[in-house]
Formats: sequence, structure tokens, C-alpha cells
Amino acid sequence: MNNYPFSIRSKLPQVGTTIFTVMSALANEHQAINLSQGFPDFEVDKNLIDLIHAEYQAGKNQYAPMPGVKELREAIAEKYSNSYGVAIDPDLEVTVTPGATTAIFSAITAVVHPDDEVLIFEPAYDCYAPAITLCGGVPVYIELKAPDFTIDWEVVKKRINHKTRMIIINTPHNPTGSIISDKDMRQLEKLVLTTDILILSDEVYEHILFDEQAHQSVLRFPKLAERSFAVYSFGKTFHATGWKLGYVIAPEALTKEFRKVHQFNVFSTNTPVQYALAKYLKTPEHYLGLNAFYEEKRNYFLNLIKDLPFIYTPTRGSYFQLLDYSKISDEKDMDYAKRLTKEIGVATVPLSAFYHRAKDYHLLRFCFAKKQETLDRAVERLLKLN
Ligand SMILES: Cc1ncc(COP(=O)(O)O)c(C=O)c1O
Repeated sequence: MNNYPFSIRSKLPQVGTTIFTVMSALANEHQAINLSQGFPDFEVDKNLIDLIHAEYQAGKNQYAPMPGVKELREAIAEKYSNSYGVAIDPDLEVTVTPGATTAIFSAITAVVHPDDEVLIFEPAYDCYAPAITLCGGVPVYIELKAPDFTIDWEVVKKRINHKTRMIIINTPHNPTGSIISDKDMRQLEKLVLTTDILILSDEVYEHILFDEQAHQSVLRFPKLAERSFAVYSFGKTFHATGWKLGYVIAPEALTKEFRKVHQFNVFSTNTPVQYALAKYLKTPEHYLGLNAFYEEKRNYFLNLIKDLPFIYTPTRGSYFQLLDYSKISDEKDMDYAKRLTKEIGVATVPLSAFYHRAKDYHLLRFCFAKKQETLDRAVERLLKLN
């Protein structure tokens, strides 16, 4: 390992293996039920698989156009104009990407310069900060207010200065399941209105909100939309995280800069899947039913654990539920998550892993995007905690 005839100056010296890889590997080693990583264990709609298969057979197997297949960009634009009554130009404002992660990376790379500051709310999904650092930018961390994990806009206001280039928001939120309200969006609008600050809005769980709450997309707010990259993931929406397909919606000037990076980063994205999705998106029921589908799963999971000594408030969005184990143990969340995996056989993610400096609220993140039988088996094991 140390015998290379060269030295490497790491651009990301702080970065190790992600917590998802660590917990999934530990889950495999101990045959634990994996409620750690955010992926469904049920099947993709067979009709969508058939559509994709047909596109392969029809020979749609060469490079797609750089911004994405036109039919898919048109279907995406139509989806949002139907949802929010906004006009989106499929040629100038929509770009198809290999998943939301790449979209986030390209958006940050397109506009963040060395020494620019980017505000991130913690706990945070893990791909934001490294992308900023690679651009020479500075992640500025602002903690969400526990126990509801809401944004303190007074703190945000204080952290904004002439170096602030971007604010990253994520609603519904991974890992906490909190959602941004209409009032929050108006506060954000007020703060950035007379500045050069851009918004990156990670909305990959846009169709997973509970208790009849509406998703507050940046696209609903014209004054925010005109300075935002809104990022989405087909992997999340259609239970196919392995396909790595997503898209970004941004005004023309931002899309232009985005595509300058995108075209040299990936150039284009899986062609047959794009054609198939263009057809599948024409039926809004394919995504509008998701809220109810996942709400049932959340309620099923919460009902199963109701007699366990966890403390919680039902998650408001995403397919994650935080559970507080402080009545069971005072171990650090990382230690407790590892012990739960090894001894009880259920893998979760400790919340502290989503902070740049571990913050321990004795909370674990459980992913309930699983078949009922998987949730049954997991909770059967958790009952040993009683
Ligand atoms: C908040 C958030 N953003 C982005 C992503 C990445 O999405 P994709 O798999 O499409 O790259 C995830 C995946 O877990 C996520 O939870």
C-alpha cells in the first residue's frame, strides 16, 4: 500500500467510506435485515419494465442527445406544468442526468467558485459537501432545529454574506423526514431576493409526503424558481434506484452553465430507459399514488413498533423514520446502531453520520421502503428489545 513511487495529495482527505456502505456491509456480515440504505426491496412496475424492454428491442441503443431524449424532456415539462401551473421549456430548462447525485454535482460544479460559501442544513444528505469542497468552495453548516428539524431563518440570515453563492435545501428531507413549509419558502425568498445567491433544491422525495401535506417545490415560487436548480430522481419515484436516472429543472441561464459541465462529465444518459419513461410519465397515476402507497407503509411500520420503547413523531415525508432509543440505551448512536445490527439483526443508520461533526441525539434512521414481510421480520427481531 505504501510502496507507490508517487505521493497523492487527496482532494478529499476527510472523506472515508460512506455510512451506507459501512452499515450495508455490516448487515451482510451479520445477516441483518437492512433498513439502513434508502432503497425499496419491492419490484418496479412490470409495465415499465416491459416498456424499457420494448425500447431495447426497437434498437434505441445508441447515445441519447446531450440534454436528454426530447420526448422525455417534454413529458417532464408537462408533468410540472400540470402540477404547479408553471411553464417549463423542455429544450432550454430540462436536462436528464444519471441520477440526482450527478445532477447535484454538476449544478454545484457549474456555479461554485473557489472561496464561495454554500449553506447546507445539517443533518444533511452526504453528497453536498464533497462536491462543494472539490470546487474549492466552503460548506457552511447550519443545524436544523431538533426535535422537528426545522430551519431557523434568523440563523440563516446571520450566516449570509457577500461570499454566499448558494443555499442547498432538501424537502422532504433525508434523513429526518421533515418538510419545508410554504412559510419557509417565503422566508427563503425574502432572504435571497436582492442577492446573487442561487438555490439548489433537492426534491427527490417530491411524491412521498404524508397526512395530506403538499410538496413545496421551488418551482411553485417564481422568484425562487428563477434562481434555482430543482433536482429529481426517477430511481426514487419508480422504485428503481439502480437505474440511476434523474433530471434537473433550471432557468435557461443556469441550464446553460449546467450543461457545460454535464456534457463533459457524462455527456448523455441511458437511451432506452429515457424513451420508456417518456411514455410512462404520460399517466400521472404512476407517481400521484405514491403518497398513499408510502403513507400506508409508514403507518404499517409505526403500528408494528408501537409497543417498543422507542420515542418518535411520525415522519412527515420521505421513506425514513427516525426513532429515539434513549429509553433503551445511553450508548452513542454509532455504537448502538452497530450493536443493533450485530446482536438484534437489524441495520439502521445513526443520525450523527449526517453531521460533519457527529452530533448525537440518540436517533436512528429506519428506511421503511420495504415489503410488509421485511418490516414484519425486522420488528420481530426488534421485539427482543422489550
Ligand atoms: C436527499 C437525496 N438526494 C439525492 C439522492 C440521490 O439520488 P440518485 O440515486 O438519483 O442519485 C438521494 C438518494 O438517497 C437522496 O436521499
